[in-house]
Amino acid sequence: MQAILLVGGFGTRLRPLTLTTPKQMLPVLHRPMVEHVVSGLARHGVERVVLALGYHDEAFRSAYPGGRCAGVELCCVVESEPLDTAGAIRFAYAASGMEDSRGTFLVANGDVITDLDVSEMLRLHRSAGAEATIHLIEVEDPSRYGVVVTEAGGRVSAFVEKPPRPAPSNWINAGTYLMEPSVVGRIDGGRRVSVEREIFPAMAADGTLWALKHNTYWVDAGTPQTYLRVQLDLLDGRRGPAVAGVSPEASVDPGAVVERSVVMAGAVVGEGSVVRGSAVHSSAVIEAGAQVMDSVVGSGATVGQGARVTDGTLVGEHFDVEPGATLSEARVPGAV
Ligand code: GTP
Repeated sequence: MQAILLVGGFGTRLRPLTLTTPKQMLPVLHRPMVEHVVSGLARHGVERVVLALGYHDEAFRSAYPGGRCAGVELCCVVESEPLDTAGAIRFAYAASGMEDSRGTFLVANGDVITDLDVSEMLRLHRSAGAEATIHLIEVEDPSRYGVVVTEAGGRVSAFVEKPPRPAPSNWINAGTYLMEPSVVGRIDGGRRVSVEREIFPAMAADGTLWALKHNTYWVDAGTPQTYLRVQLDLLDGRRGPAVAGVSPEASVDPGAVVERSVVMAGAVVGEGSVVRGSAVHSSAVIEAGAQVMDSVVGSGATVGQGARVTDGTLVGEHFDVEPGATLSEARVPGAV
């Protein structure tokens, strides 16, 4: 099985972290997000991954110069301008030579961290004779997602992106798809095309789209809260045995308190400081007496003495938070 991983988006919801590093190259625990996604696919038999790149493509290409990631062969293709999700699939399919194999392929959003059983999805896809099959997850508030209505057996009768309330179902598009090559033939070349807004609704109308309802571990790690949550879930043991958050190559003062947090290699946490529910990226410095709560401090950034950084604040790479400053729900530097 080959997979196209969509990793070319701007990641605006994670700015300013994504101004310098594309979303899927941001660290999740101690490895780039893309490695978590690729190893998940590899566990389910994916042998070759095509990275559909655009924004900051060089960050991926320089991280994996040998063309391998998490034991899987990588092929990098770069759009000269963003083609949106379906346009990216069409481009990657042709540019990577996938059209030669003419088989079923997998597509995944690069920020979806999940324990989806791809083999189960493939069984449904084959037995239904589907043109494409989507993974669905049930959520309490579906309004900001693609909402999917299915018939008994899994055929999709409606696919509505970000519906008005009340939504027609609580099952949402979870961002992993199996596709037949004919799907690519539905995507126009030379313009931006969205798989969620254009291709899936058309396929639902044609009766060729199926869906697997599978409530397993699933997080779309594209917002400050969910980007932190995927990491805290690993620390808390919500996905297998709990793992340590503090890198052996970080320096934490014995007089500092670090709780339920990721502190990456080269980071320094000073005396009397408190880091709780947060991620401190490589070589960041938390000075004495500072507090970092439920926030992300980008690599090489500094939180000055006695400063308080709380409530989902994102501190961009190499930014200095002034000593004594208070930041809550902030993004520094501000949006560009
Ligand atoms: P936000 O700006 O925060 O919404 O993030 P995003 O740009 O990543 O958009 P979104 O999360 O909705 O995109 C879903 C997936 O598709 C992500 O993995 C993106 O990287 C990817 N993606 C979105 N647009 C494009 C595109 O034009 N080309 C490619 N190759 N990938 C894209």
